[in-house]
Amino acid sequence: MRVRDATGEDVPGILAIYNHAVLHTTATADLEPQPLAARKEWLAVRQRAGLAVLVAEDDTGAIAGWASLNPYHARPGYRFTVENSVYVAESSRGRGVGSLLLAPLVERAQAAGVHAILAGVDSTNEASLRLHARFGFEKVGQLRQVVWKFDRWLDVVYLERLF
Ligand SMILES: CC(C)(COP(=O)(O)OP(=O)(O)OC[C@H]1O[C@@H](n2cnc3c(N)ncnc32)[C@H](O)[C@@H]1OP(=O)(O)O)[C@@H](O)C(=O)NCCC(=O)NCCS
Repeated sequence: MRVRDATGEDVPGILAIYNHAVLHTTATADLEPQPLAARKEWLAVRQRAGLAVLVAEDDTGAIAGWASLNPYHARPGYRFTVENSVYVAESSRGRGVGSLLLAPLVERAQAAGVHAILAGVDSTNEASLRLHARFGFEKVGQLRQVVWKFDRWLDVVYLERLF
């Protein structure tokens, strides 16, 4: 497994992992699979802004997971704050791939002059809560019942890593 910057050729692999999570997990508040064109633009936005998008590639060349830094807020006072995303293919979860991605993602944020990384995590997502805790993210708040998915309300926990 190796971690590297994403290229345009990785977008279908990134999207397949994301869309599976849309349909089967509470990791994202999206309810419908997203189209390829939107994910291409998603990557282009981050490349233009200098925000890291990393992929974990297995020995066969398949994308086993990805992680990104995302713009947090358009108002310029927020320019040192980003959000992060991390998604691992179902068949590769629980084997350290998330950790393999988050470590360099945090380093890249710091190197880019980011001051705060935020992560919004479903309060029942134990794997994500533990993963982020491992990399120094601390709980700073909990939004109650802000997402309706799979016929129930979900709380979103906000985690923050400061530099
Ligand atoms: C959350 C996710 C990215 C974690 O990646 P991963 O490769 O499975 O995680 P790792 O194997 O690196 O393990 C990281 C930590 O989570 C823990 N963990 C992993 N799977 C777990 C599970 N199913 N339940 C509880 N804890 C779990 C590990 O024990 C480890 O904790 P530790 O450092 O305290 O030992 C991955 O499970 C995933 O993609 N899930 C679906 C999408 C998602 O939830 N993304 C995050 C959105 S905020």
